[in-house]
Amino acid sequence: MPQLHVQKLSKNFGGVQALSKLDFSVEQGDLLGLIGPNGAGKTTAFNVLTGVMPASDGRVEFEGTDITRLSPEKRSHLGMTRTFQNIRLFDDMTVRENVMAGAHARAGRSLLHCVFGLPGQTQAEKRIREIADDMLERTALTDFATRNASELSYGDRRRVEIARALASAPTLLLLDEPAAGMTDTEKGRLSELVSRLNDDGLTIILVEHNVRMVAALCRRLVVVNKGEMLACDKTEDVLRMPEVEAVYLGRRRSEVM
Ligand SMILES: Nc1ncnc2c1ncn2[C@@H]1O[C@H](COP(=O)(O)OP(=O)(O)O)[C@@H](O)[C@H]1O
Ligand SMILES: [Mg+2]
Repeated sequence: MPQLHVQKLSKNFGGVQALSKLDFSVEQGDLLGLIGPNGAGKTTAFNVLTGVMPASDGRVEFEGTDITRLSPEKRSHLGMTRTFQNIRLFDDMTVRENVMAGAHARAGRSLLHCVFGLPGQTQAEKRIREIADDMLERTALTDFATRNASELSYGDRRRVEIARALASAPTLLLLDEPAAGMTDTEKGRLSELVSRLNDDGLTIILVEHNVRMVAALCRRLVVVNKGEMLACDKTEDVLRMPEVEAVYLGRRRSEVM
């Protein structure tokens, strides 16, 4: 049984077909790239897969359970967590508190109670803090734990988002353009992190514009264009398809690779 099984998943906004009959499966431990030009439907796919928006049609199964109509919170409890294309951090909170916000979902208590130390919450708070610190270490952010999230560089803020997502203990992580706006050095560190997480057994779906990064990291690719699925196959085969070069890249392969 695949970990994620997506069948004819569609989403339209009024008359706009943002996503049409998306069909693919992800095996446990896979690292799948989801690529396509701007406006292709990648973020919409993530929104519908994670329940941020209801699907117009189709079905999503996660570990054998039909999750098509579940809320994002329920999907997260089952093990499916995402990051957003636009960074969504609490800027007036520390890096550690931001990551604790992700851990509270798994601890099953309200973070606010924990942060403000209401009676009876001490144990939960301690556990949440341990989880957060563990994730900060895994993402090489320990040194920034007590800094305000707003003080960090763009690339470090992106890693805080990933640490926060990891704190909810996902078995499937969806990353929406995590490298956008990063310097080459930051991109290199991000690639290392993604591949380390995957080596540790986490299944990952990566939306990414940088073809070189996708090609280096992902074994398989799904290509979308104008809401339609163009391809779903091994990375090297997909990147060789003329229609992918023509539509996705819009320029010669040699210029991109
Ligand atoms: N909330 C929305 N309301 C209306 N149209 C939307 C909404 N979200 C996305 N779209 C449209 O759906 C299409 C796919 O967008 P999106 O999924 O963001 O593309 P990508 O992430 O691949 O760049 C675009 O035409 C976009 O304008
Ligand atoms: Mg997008």
